[in-house]
Formats: sequence, C-alpha cells, structure tokens
Amino acid sequence: MTSHSSPVRAHAPLPEGISTLADHERHARGVMDAPTWAYLCGAAADELTFTRNVEAWRTLELLPRVLKPLAGGHTRVNLLGRTLAHPILVAPMAYQRLAHPDGEHATTLAAAALGAGMVFSTQASMPLDEIAATFLPEPGRGPLWFQLYLQPDRDFTRELVRRAEAAGFEALVLTVDAPVQGSRDAERRANFRLPAHVSAVNLAGMRPPPARAIVSGQSALFDDLLTHAPGWEDLAWLRSITRLPVLLKGVLHPEDARQAVACGAAGLIVSNHGGRTLDTTITTASALPRIADAVKGEVPLLVDGGIRRGTDVLKAMGLGASAVLVGRPVLHGLANAGATGVAHVLRLLRDELEIAMALTGCRTLSEAPMVLAQPPL
Ligand SMILES: Cc1cc2nc3c(=O)[nH]c(=O)nc-3n(C[C@H](O)[C@H](O)[C@H](O)COP(=O)(O)O)c2cc1C
Repeated sequence: MTSHSSPVRAHAPLPEGISTLADHERHARGVMDAPTWAYLCGAAADELTFTRNVEAWRTLELLPRVLKPLAGGHTRVNLLGRTLAHPILVAPMAYQRLAHPDGEHATTLAAAALGAGMVFSTQASMPLDEIAATFLPEPGRGPLWFQLYLQPDRDFTRELVRRAEAAGFEALVLTVDAPVQGSRDAERRANFRLPAHVSAVNLAGMRPPPARAIVSGQSALFDDLLTHAPGWEDLAWLRSITRLPVLLKGVLHPEDARQAVACGAAGLIVSNHGGRTLDTTITTASALPRIADAVKGEVPLLVDGGIRRGTDVLKAMGLGASAVLVGRPVLHGLANAGATGVAHVLRLLRDELEIAMALTGCRTLSEAPMVLAQPPL
C-alpha cells in the first residue's frame, strides 16, 4: 500500500435503524461537517435539477402485470459484451476520501463484492492502479471503467489513458457536461476547501495548460479556461489513442446522442451530473426515453441522477436503459460505515429491484414493465 491508502475498515458496523437509501442520507448528514456535506452532497445554484432528478423517478408510475411466471427470474443484464449480475454501477465521484479515510478503496471493495460495476473518477483521491488491483481479482465483479476528464495537456491525457489501460480498466467514460465547474453556491457559502491530505493523486505532475490567444478580450472564462474545452474532434482523437471502448457521459439532447453514436461512442450515459453543473436542466428520467428514441438501440444507454430506489432502477430499464449509475447514496454509505456502508447501499437497491420486478410480473429485466409518466412527457 502507498501512503495514499489507509487500512480498510471493512467491518465497520452499520449504524442502527438504516433500512433505505434515504436513511443512509439522513445519517450521513449528521456524520459529515457542513462544508464537506456541501461539496459531496450539494449541487449547482438552487439545486433544482438535483431535487427534480429524484422527484422525477418517484413520480413515474409503474403498470404491473399479474399472474406472470416468475420462477427462475434474475437481474442479469448484458453490457458491452459481458453479463452482469445486475444493472447497478457506482458513478464516478471525485475525492472519496472526504467521506471516509478509506475513500475509493472502500467503495471499490464493496462494489466488487456486490457485483456492481465501478466507474473510477479522474479526480479520485487514490491511485488508479491500486483500485484496479483491488477490484479486478474479485470473481463476481462487474465492469471497471475509468472516467476521463480531458486535460488541457493532451500529452498528459494520453499518458493517463495509457496508465488506465495498463492497470486493467475495461472502458473509458468521457465526461462531456462539465467544460467548466457549475455555480456551486452551497459549497461557496460553506467555504469548502479541499483538506491538504486529499488531492487528485492521478493528476499529479500535470503541467499548467499552455497559454492560448485571447479570442474576445471580454471574458476570462471564454478566453482562458474554455479555450481548452473538448469538442467532437477530441472524441475522435481519444478513440484513435486507445483500444478501449469509449462511452460519453453527460448527454441530454437526442441530437448529441445521435452524433455521439455516429462518432463511434460505445455507449452513452444520460446524465446531468446529478445537478452539479447546470441547474434547471431536463431531468434524466425525462431525457432517457427521448434519447432511447433517437438512438434506437444502436448503443447501450445508461442513466444516472436521482436513483434512490429499486423501483427507480426498474423504471430506468423500462424506459430503455441497459444499466444505471448511483452517485451520492454511495457516498452516504461510505461516510456511515466505510465499505460496509457502501455494500449495504448497493444491496438495498438490488433487493428492492428484485422485489419490484416480482411485483410487476417481470422475470428478467428485458421484460421491464411499462412506465407511465405523470404528468405526461
Ligand atoms: C461528490 C461528487 C463528485 C463527482 N465527481 C464526478 C467526477 O469526477 N466525474 C464525473 O463524471 N461525475 C462526477 N460526479 C457526478 C456523478 O458521476 C453522477 O453523475 C451523479 O452523482 C449522479 O447523481 P446522484 O448523485 O443523484 O446519483 C460527481 C458527483 C458527486 C456527488
């Protein structure tokens, strides 16, 4: 282990009285200090997208069938050529050592043990090769993907991709909805600062971006930071330097979805970054069926943002998703009880999914039930 790691307290007891993801959230709020809570669990601006994501899944209605054969049912799904035990993946999230000293290591252990896919953030607070070495040997594991933020220094980006490939990551997830950080007011109000012991260790040694010509002379944002913002040509570049499949994360517009497929994306993650970038965007529950219509099954669709119940997972599958990603609830579980807490969150979701399948007459997820929008789409 390197100095970045700490022994995993895999057997940290789960606090009493927690039987839903909402219970985990309530408890975690009491465990974290206010600035850390604002960073990890807050969202952009008035946090409307964040709240509406959750509300949108809750509001959708399931139309169950009865007296259907259920024996031999299962939650297995196929994704990018593999069979997964269930369709729940851990979303990429930065700086998990803020939630618990065991950070990404604990999340990885729990995800591997629960057969959940793990998407590891570019801005993780633990080394990517250690995480891969923890995850990959687990026999029942799900997929291990590396989430990539293209860095202004493209040579560094290329080297980062090479390191992820060498460590055994199985796909790249290119996040495209955050060319600039959203206006995270709660975080600023709480005066959040990264503590000295938490950093984006996999970005260490990156050179500052080369200066570029000023375009308008009016806006520091547009003339400086955004001169390095990725474009469609960067997706082509990324595909040219890697043998791994590249998924795009942060797609909401059906035309972007079509273009991504045309540019060779291996899959799409319908996401609004959990409301952390732009506030008042379309919810992911609302975007998913529109994108499913546009993409017509050409590539797998995943979705995240506001998934808090097994019924939410089932609704996503009914609206055309191949799998879902879960963000903040994993951090709540991590803060509450390290690896045990994350495992509990993933187990609860999966158990709820199975119950929801049985009660809608759905033996496998390819038979996911009809989902009705309330109010209509
Ligand atoms: C603390 C935190 C850090 C995040 N960091 C990243 C990141 O590094 N890369 C990324 O693509 N998404 C990041 N996200 C967004 C998540 O991957 C995901 O899209 C979102 O959390 C899903 O919404 P949910 O939290 O409601 O489940 C982050 C989310 C949170 C809460």
